Amino acid sequence: MRSRQVHLVKRPEGPPALEDFEVVETDLTGPAQGEVLVKNLYMSVDPAMRPRMARGYELGKPLVGGALGRVLESRHGDFKEGQIVLNRMGFREYFVSDGRGMRKLEPDPALSLTAYMSVLGNPGLTAYGGLMEVAKLQRGEKLFVSTAAGAVGQVAVQIGKLLDCYVVGSTGSEEKARWLRDELKLDAVINYKDGPINKALRAAAPDGLDVYFDNVGGDHLDAALNVLNHGGRVAVCGMISGYNEAGSRTVVRNLSNIIYGGITIRGFAGPEYMHLQGEFAKKMAGWLKEGRIKYRETILDGIDAAPEAMVGLMHGRNTGKMLVAL
Ligand SMILES: NC(=O)c1ccc[n+]([C@@H]2O[C@H](COP(=O)([O-])OP(=O)(O)OC[C@H]3O[C@@H](n4cnc5c(N)ncnc54)[C@H](OP(=O)(O)O)[C@@H]3O)[C@@H](O)[C@H]2O)c1
Repeated sequence: MRSRQVHLVKRPEGPPALEDFEVVETDLTGPAQGEVLVKNLYMSVDPAMRPRMARGYELGKPLVGGALGRVLESRHGDFKEGQIVLNRMGFREYFVSDGRGMRKLEPDPALSLTAYMSVLGNPGLTAYGGLMEVAKLQRGEKLFVSTAAGAVGQVAVQIGKLLDCYVVGSTGSEEKARWLRDELKLDAVINYKDGPINKALRAAAPDGLDVYFDNVGGDHLDAALNVLNHGGRVAVCGMISGYNEAGSRTVVRNLSNIIYGGITIRGFAGPEYMHLQGEFAKKMAGWLKEGRIKYRETILDGIDAAPEAMVGLMHGRNTGKMLVAL
């Protein structure tokens, strides 16, 4: 059968451009004994893919990323036809696999399938793990989350509100700022494109901050270091402001505040919070059903839209999780 996949054909210089990608048609054979044929339904588009385009992804080969698919044909004892599977074979319509790296999913019919790629999936767990395990956020504390209207950010700010925290969020458009303010009920919202984040953050957090959940790095981290109270914690989830360059170009000037402010800065990734998967999935499903967590997704249609989704993500054209539906 024929399947299409997205190749990286040029290493981006600065932000990724449409010409850096090509959608290529290939032949697929199988499945052989011990293999399954999967049709991807949704693919995840992630900021972390951008640094991998500089080093990691091979040119002329399909990109690699998270996806959710359905087993079309199985010659594998562990998988039945129709089974929904989470996999790392995104950026292709169909694939044949021996099952390694695939996780069976029993979706709750009361919840949307796409939620397993966003609030209930890795972005949600990242927000939960970063706040609970890394930052050890306490009820009533003062929290700042950057890229607050993004996939991870939208969950982090709402967990903060569920814990009665004073929550400040930053984002890059008026429309997203309005959503954060009016619907997610943040205490203060900063559009970082309106002016220097340093001044805006000080005004938004007059009593300082206890926790900064960092998705941006650079000037946002610098501003937070200036406003954090004594004993403040920074959970470094991502540093998207530097992903289009080889490292962040913004000089962090306020590092010395770590000393007398007794500030802890801790980076984290999957292994730090994977043990929370079970408790998180249960809590989040409950919050969603009770309407206590809201979420948005930006879903582009068809594999031809995948390059546009990647480019758009790095320009803030998504609210909530950026996905491609196949
Ligand atoms: N540690 C982990 O395990 C882990 C897991 C998942 C994600 N992450 C990290 O978490 C962060 C958010 O990821 P996500 O998947 O939730 O993506 P996302 O926030 O849904 O999308 C990325 C957003 O970043 C913002 N952005 C782009 N360039 C920026 C810049 N130069 N300065 C400030 N903001 C910029 C844009 O929103 P605006 O409109 O706000 O500009 C864009 O919508 C990323 O840094 C990512 O690498 C880490």
